[in-house]
Amino acid sequence: MCLKSLKITNWIVFYFGLVGLFWQVECVDNKYDNYTLIKLYPNGIQQIEALKYLEVPEHEVEILKKSRSFNDSTDILVSPNDIPFVKQFIKDESLIYELKRNYGRMFESVERTPKRRILRGFSIYEYHSFSAIQEYIDNLAKRQSDLVKLQNLGTSYQGRRMKLVKISSDHSAQNPIIFVDAGIHAREWVAPAMALYLIHRLVNDPDARKELDGVDWYILPVVNPDGYEYTRTSRANRLWRKTRSKNSQFECFGVDGNRNYGFKWAVSGVSTNPCDKETYAGPKPFSEVETQMVRNIMMENSKRMKLYVSLHSYGQYLVYPWGYTGDFLPKEWKRLDTMARIVSDAVQKAGGQPFKVLSAGKWYAAAGGSDDFAFGAVGVPYSYTMELTNGFEFIYPERLLRVVLPQYYEGFRAFATQIKKEFCSKYIGHRCKNNSPEESETNS
Ligand code: ARG
Ligand code: ZN
Repeated sequence: MCLKSLKITNWIVFYFGLVGLFWQVECVDNKYDNYTLIKLYPNGIQQIEALKYLEVPEHEVEILKKSRSFNDSTDILVSPNDIPFVKQFIKDESLIYELKRNYGRMFESVERTPKRRILRGFSIYEYHSFSAIQEYIDNLAKRQSDLVKLQNLGTSYQGRRMKLVKISSDHSAQNPIIFVDAGIHAREWVAPAMALYLIHRLVNDPDARKELDGVDWYILPVVNPDGYEYTRTSRANRLWRKTRSKNSQFECFGVDGNRNYGFKWAVSGVSTNPCDKETYAGPKPFSEVETQMVRNIMMENSKRMKLYVSLHSYGQYLVYPWGYTGDFLPKEWKRLDTMARIVSDAVQKAGGQPFKVLSAGKWYAAAGGSDDFAFGAVGVPYSYTMELTNGFEFIYPERLLRVVLPQYYEGFRAFATQIKKEFCSKYIGHRCKNNSPEESETNS
């Protein structure tokens, strides 16, 4: 039952010449208002195994983040009904834990965009609406038309126009591409903020010219704008993760975009129930227009794309394929691992926290992710999911953005340096001229 706001829609229905008026009452209250956030600290493999018991569908226990090992928490949101079950579980397993009650009620005071921003103009260290982000990008492309080109990708499920931001010092050079996307998961606001900051630095920082020599950056800052706006503009659910497409059979919304990619689709770590948890894989691979757009970017640029990074939050992880299984690693795992550690070191050197580096599947197996698709289906040699920040769950405080975004930027600089080292040994002007047959083919 809703305690606070009700949204009332009236429907006029015609049948047999009669006119009927219907009122549809929809609850728009925050589902998580009286949920409890519990952070569980397993002391080893055995307790991590035991935590799987929480995933049984009979219980409304939502897992926000899984623990990788000792000293890293599994964070769960528990409905009031399920508190006794979870408490008993914690006791039986002798788990160390922390809790925050009435979790959903905290959001209203912590964030939301106040009106004052209209007067103050655009700050790169704030969270913005999708339309403000688009406006910023449009202006940038107008002001710096040599450097920034926009490619229209089509519209999201609800009709929001999506654009790929291409940054290059020579758009005709056919340089190797670094592709970064963010915001496939609606609630992970810090990810689009980072993508936008990356765009800002690459375009406005004179030193970043070095990052642009011999490599092109393709950036899609909000893959799931419908979900993003849903978490911003409605009190209904700040913790929404999925898209907002409507399931034709059930009265439920949304697909987990990062379970929707067509590589080993749905073989592990997904929900098949559209009305259930946040990890519904969709009715079929690439059922979502938003994941289709990312797929198309990858396919159209498959030869030149050398690095793909998908930005998420949270947990401070930098993970690489395979994500669909933890049983084995790709044969190239060593170079994926080495690159990730170089990036982590760069972030740490800039004052940030190091990343936990491992394969996504060894953290927890989940199929249909964009990282596996890029690596396994498209053949992008370096592919990662970067989980930004730790310690504030999905509600990363805006005031800290100015601290962490520049630190992560150093990670991206390190990525670019490595990619150039490997794929672009020679330059002519801003162009990358390599001797490898593949490169000369694409350059001719
Ligand atoms: N937190 C991300 C998710 O659950 C991690 C994805 C890692 N990649 C993977 N293919 N499992 O979507
Ligand atoms: Zn995510």
